[in-house]
Amino acid sequence: MALELIAQAEEVPLNDTVVVEHGGEQVLLARTAFGVFAVENRCSHAYQELHGGKVKKVMIFCPLHGAGFDLRNGCPKGKLTDKPIKAWHCEETEEGIAVDLSIRLDPPED
Ligand code: FES
Repeated sequence: MALELIAQAEEVPLNDTVVVEHGGEQVLLARTAFGVFAVENRCSHAYQELHGGKVKKVMIFCPLHGAGFDLRNGCPKGKLTDKPIKAWHCEETEEGIAVDLSIRLDPPED
């Protein structure tokens, strides 16, 4: 899979998220002051959707119990879960927001 446009820039407001079905994944796009990020729309604690969770700096917080995940690499913060979520390469271009699902940014599984 290659870099593919999946959203227009204006579809992802600052400090908000949108979910796009792409390549068999629910890709959650999040925009913060630090950029646009692409992670899976599933918390690794009790598998709640992350969409609707608060985004701040480079973090997203699960709306159910508040687990935090680093949007840059899917790594969890806090004690609720130690399992990362998937994070993918994401670029914003003049045409829109593009994601490459073949480039994972989360830590490899053991
Ligand atoms: S389901 Fe996300 S923190 Fe519990």
